[in-house]
Amino acid sequence: MLPCDQAHCVRTARRAEELSLTYGVSEEERGLLVRAALLHDIGKGGAELGFAVRVLQRLPFSREVKRRMARIWPHGESALRVLEDHPGIGGEKLRRMGACRRLIGLVAEHHCPTTKLGEILKRADDG
Ligand SMILES: [Fe+2]
Ligand SMILES: [Fe+2]
Repeated sequence: MLPCDQAHCVRTARRAEELSLTYGVSEEERGLLVRAALLHDIGKGGAELGFAVRVLQRLPFSREVKRRMARIWPHGESALRVLEDHPGIGGEKLRRMGACRRLIGLVAEHHCPTTKLGEILKRADDG
């Protein structure tokens, strides 16, 4: 994972811990949430993700248009795909490492949460 992604994960973990206090989650859930925040973007690791592709991912174009634009750069399309799919990639990495199911779920769903802890993580990530 790039240093900028590591710093983002640490900031997200700090925000998640702060938010967990206002949401009144248990100490055990807070620990799980902080671990998930530290690892939530682990799916981005190991890929050549250039600055231009990161900017492209955030533009308000359709997925198909962005993929065509990404072909301008060498490996741009595959880098864009990693950025788009990194929650699932991260969840799968953690599953292979033997992480607990709740941690895997929080990481895999951090863009589309289905639980209260997931919503806190998304808020911390967006903040
Ligand atoms: Fe993410
Ligand atoms: Fe993130």
